[in-house]
Amino acid sequence: MNLAAKPPVAPACAFVILGAGGDLTKRLLVPALYNLELAGLLDERFEVLGIDRLTGDDHWFRGELLEMLRAFVAERGGGTAPASVDDACWDGLAQRLHYHSGDFADPATFQALVAALGTRSAIFYLATAARFFGPLVDQLGEAKLLAEPEGGFRRVVIEKPFGTDLASAEQLNARILRHVGERQIYRIDHYLGKETVQNIMALRFSNGIFEPLWQRDHIDHVQITVAETVGVGTRGAFYEATGAVRDMVPNHVMQLLAMTAMEAPNSFDADAVRAEKAKAVQAIQPLSSEQARLNVVRGQYRPGALDGAAVPGYRQEHGVDPASETETYIAMKFAIDNWRWAGVPFYLRTGKRLAARRTEIAIQFKPAPFALFRDTPVDLLAPNRMVLHIQPSEGVSLQFSAKVPGPKVRLGAVTMKFDYADHFHVGPSTGYETLLYDCMAGDATLFQRADNI
Ligand code: BG6
Repeated sequence: MNLAAKPPVAPACAFVILGAGGDLTKRLLVPALYNLELAGLLDERFEVLGIDRLTGDDHWFRGELLEMLRAFVAERGGGTAPASVDDACWDGLAQRLHYHSGDFADPATFQALVAALGTRSAIFYLATAARFFGPLVDQLGEAKLLAEPEGGFRRVVIEKPFGTDLASAEQLNARILRHVGERQIYRIDHYLGKETVQNIMALRFSNGIFEPLWQRDHIDHVQITVAETVGVGTRGAFYEATGAVRDMVPNHVMQLLAMTAMEAPNSFDADAVRAEKAKAVQAIQPLSSEQARLNVVRGQYRPGALDGAAVPGYRQEHGVDPASETETYIAMKFAIDNWRWAGVPFYLRTGKRLAARRTEIAIQFKPAPFALFRDTPVDLLAPNRMVLHIQPSEGVSLQFSAKVPGPKVRLGAVTMKFDYADHFHVGPSTGYETLLYDCMAGDATLFQRADNI
């Protein structure tokens, strides 16, 4: 994590996107690179080499990406798009975007890459379906593309899902480690790039007032919510094989949980932070089948209306089996069995096509002894609740009781709110900007370690 006020320009490298024709490249990677360019953080020798099976050239690639970026800006990209496309900035970036068409199964694709890269530092971003992760790293390894040039680096960024269960995740990890060292692997989770997710650590560990309360004696329960209004859209085929649990829980939701539950690390060093997060996750009590039945709910969205317009149900989406049992909603209750959290339930929930887009962590504190307010109706005795708002607005709010003005002592619930955008005047970010920058800079703090996955 870079704690400096103004970060330096990232080290020069080639950014190789395997799967450059896909959704991720257009919707997230290129907008994030554009934002980095706008912030003056990309070296002038930085270059993107996009690889995919589709036939195309640099001109076509740049046109596709610009069109997508403009559409993203126009629809406001869920609050994460830049406000407009700055032509000079785009032109500066576009001339450094290149495209090669090639088949991932063909060694010639990787030989061409050897020639294109020479001795430059490079990041290989696997923006493909998960079934290609292992074979692609094999191809990169066999072509010696992962051997680090003198004074430079070669890194691999891997998307999710990282395996579909413990055995397949371990197998994938072992397969990758045949070709690279652990410090060359960056398992990405874009939630870790979000400012307010990083702020959980800053808030907890740089303020004296919260941490003493942050434990079982004072906290009643914790609710972590990642609610989306979007459906699966064009990603039906991906989602059918993934579902809400694998799409969101072991990565995004668990990261939020780990940041909330972890002990203070000794430093902001990558390993110190990741070790504490791993300990928090390891303390989660596994659920037996019987407990899972009692503590987990799965659901799937039906046809309905959103903002007055009809939207299809999950089973009607493109690429989805009309009798699909894949879950689009999951809610669960967890216990973290350690000294800090024993007896404090953690409720996690996430789903698509929900009533509102809202990502937040709500910490509910235990009630005060209300003896003084015996005559106040219970629903006016608001619990103290601290909410870390992550999306769509970023901030922190604190709910507490205050006296309603008047001759009698009556209580009302009030909320104090800190809003990131108001205070720091920050632009929207996808979460990928920080992570791509950190990967170029060789800082793995905000990436996942294998044991955590
Ligand atoms: C992705 C999931 O990792 O995260 C998507 O694959 C989900 O299904 C997305 O919509 C949510 O990200 P964000 O940044 O919009 O909360």
